[in-house]
Amino acid sequence: MQSRKYRFNKNNKKKWPIVVSGIISSILIIVPLTWLGLHNWNLDDSLSALNQETQTTLEPQDSSQQSNGEEDISIDGPTKTKPPISTPEEPKESPEPPVEKPANNTYLPNQEHPNSPTIINQLLVVNKRYPLPKDYNKGEDPKARESFNQLAAAARLDGFELVAFSTFRSFERQETLYNQYVAKDGQELADQYSARPGYSEHQSGLAFDIGEKNFEQHWAAQSFGETPAGKWVAQNAHLYGFILRYPLGKEEVTGYMHEPWHFRYVGVESATDMYTHKQTLEEYLEL
Ligand code: DAL
Ligand code: ZN
Repeated sequence: MQSRKYRFNKNNKKKWPIVVSGIISSILIIVPLTWLGLHNWNLDDSLSALNQETQTTLEPQDSSQQSNGEEDISIDGPTKTKPPISTPEEPKESPEPPVEKPANNTYLPNQEHPNSPTIINQLLVVNKRYPLPKDYNKGEDPKARESFNQLAAAARLDGFELVAFSTFRSFERQETLYNQYVAKDGQELADQYSARPGYSEHQSGLAFDIGEKNFEQHWAAQSFGETPAGKWVAQNAHLYGFILRYPLGKEEVTGYMHEPWHFRYVGVESATDMYTHKQTLEEYLEL
């Protein structure tokens, strides 16, 4: 009996290391598996989370990203069970290459005249970048004339007798005028106040040069903008669909010097928008 007991104890002693290592191994396997099961572990999600964590650590963020980070913190709080889904395949934010907008204020060398006028958002565009067809010859626009008559009637009520001293001009008429100006002032200066043939809004029939009856000295002159009549037109033309086409301070946008007498019919809605936002046609249409 004694010897059997002794043998039994001796065997147990030999098995202890095996039993202990078995128990430890079981704990090392079962506990993590149980934890992973309880926490809905997913290999892809964990890799994504790890990836995001690495990027956050490596890349300093700008202030706008930091404010997004605050949102992330609340989403990633203790109650959240799913890690944030990162989108590593999405293109990283990189500065857009600057888009070169064609200049509206200079002529292109050897530009061909188009077969039809440029119409953008239902508005006909004529400037140094967008010429008209040479044979575009529709005459004065009747809607523009009707609107000018209404403008003039409103001005009369306020004591001003307006006249439209130049409206539609054909390609050929503009050619004659432009050549005269070039002969007088040279091309560089003439290009600042006179359109080359095919590039004048007057050929569209939508441009009205406005002055005051009996004050011819202010017609087509900078001084018109300083007269009560000139100020009245500048402040009221949009109500009848006209815009001051070449405003002071926008010479680089329009390509022409300030012309307080040259108004362009665009319709009441567009004119009011442009007047309210102090925009030229080029700016309004984002040309
Ligand atoms: N004076 C304007 C720019 C024209 O000639 O059409
Ligand atoms: Zn004009």
